[in-house]
Amino acid sequence: METAMEQTEAGNAEEFYRSPTTTPDADPWALALEDIDLATGSIFQAQKHHEYFKRLRQENPVHYHDKNPDIGPYWSLTRYEDIMAVDSDFQRFSSEPSIALFDEILGEQRAPMFIAMDPPTHDEQRAAVSPAVGPVRLKDLDQLIRSRTVEVLDELPIGTPFNWVDKVSIELTTRMLATLFDYPFEERSKLTFWSDVITTPPILMGISDEDRLNHLAECLLTFTALFKERQGESNNSQDFISLLANNPATANMEGVELLGNLMLLIVGGNDTTRNSMSAGVHFMHENPDEFQKIKDDEALIPSAVSEIIRYQTPLSYMRRTANEDVEIRGKQIKKGDKIAMWYASGNRDEAFFPDADKFIIDRPNVRRHMAFGFGVHRCMGNRVAEAQLRIVWEEILKRFDRLEVVGEPERVEHSFVHGIKDLQVIAHPKT
Ligand code: HEM
Repeated sequence: METAMEQTEAGNAEEFYRSPTTTPDADPWALALEDIDLATGSIFQAQKHHEYFKRLRQENPVHYHDKNPDIGPYWSLTRYEDIMAVDSDFQRFSSEPSIALFDEILGEQRAPMFIAMDPPTHDEQRAAVSPAVGPVRLKDLDQLIRSRTVEVLDELPIGTPFNWVDKVSIELTTRMLATLFDYPFEERSKLTFWSDVITTPPILMGISDEDRLNHLAECLLTFTALFKERQGESNNSQDFISLLANNPATANMEGVELLGNLMLLIVGGNDTTRNSMSAGVHFMHENPDEFQKIKDDEALIPSAVSEIIRYQTPLSYMRRTANEDVEIRGKQIKKGDKIAMWYASGNRDEAFFPDADKFIIDRPNVRRHMAFGFGVHRCMGNRVAEAQLRIVWEEILKRFDRLEVVGEPERVEHSFVHGIKDLQVIAHPKT
């Protein structure tokens, strides 16, 4: 059997790192503080991370851990206001060279992408593609999102369990991705496949490192062809590829630089929206009184969507690197130190969200969750994500009396992407 280190070398360290101390079975309140390593996927998979965060918010909100062999020393911020302050300050806290503690998430160490860049280059590249998901384009997309949602929901089996993740969440986010790229619709499953290749260690996909590189090369080749095809002054299309191909800040991109930004755009909205779509069904099942609230008043759906995103927090953290020595709450952070801003903890901070561990779809400050980040890197696709989730819930309410979750959701072992692989659901139609 392979050792953890051998597996690590084969792919993304994140999936395989198992802390000897911070385990799902350990008592988060009894462990020595210095042994708490939040970058441990197994505690997220077991849903034990909340207790660790609660303890750190109370006892050690600016936390240092230096025993993780795969990522080296790093700081963890766990309180809402500290995270917001750091996320809003790109001068002192850089997104370069990486937004992950583990170097390989999104492959961004090898392929540059604007999420892992600072202004001004970041701003130019972001501005080039943001119209694809801006308010004007979204208005146009609303009807399309609805018709696809209707199609997918109308095909669901009734009365027998099915995996909501595959049948709904992945299907709808893949269709959306194809639209945002104006990618040939019938070949859309390739986008999800490439997204998986980017985020999943080859060993977990049953492929070799060489296969992985070949798939990425195919991805680049396919998109380079589309990129070239769409270059031209008369092309005013608002899809990601046309926008990249025709903006002076990005039109000359090729090779890894193009691949990096494509990876970001493919992955950015994929797992995140997918996991919110799955998690919401689970939360509503567990909180029937909250579900009843949207049944009674559909106008509460946008607020419920924000609460779903807060409660799930699909990306648990973003990393920054200190550009200078900084003191936070008496702790001396040195230039070059890694800092994880744990959105998953800030979103459960009692000082900001009363009854933070409860799912309350109409909480007054629901829109102030931090799952989309703050500052110059605030999620570019937040409106698309919210629109997809709002529409899916509007259409669920038209068709179903309830969505019954049977069994425990199967979650991913990951401290960066907070996700669900399998959610067995029985759909009960309205009578
Ligand atoms: C950035 C979360 C959906 C594209 C981010 C960041 C977070 C995030 C936390 C980094 C913020 C920061 O560093 O301050 C989410 C969540 C989503 C979602 C929770 C769904 C519920 C989407 C969608 C798209 C997208 C649908 C695109 C179609 C991006 C891009 C960036 C980004 C391109 C980089 C922005 C930049 O660096 O300026 N997202 N995201 N996201 N997101 Fe999202």
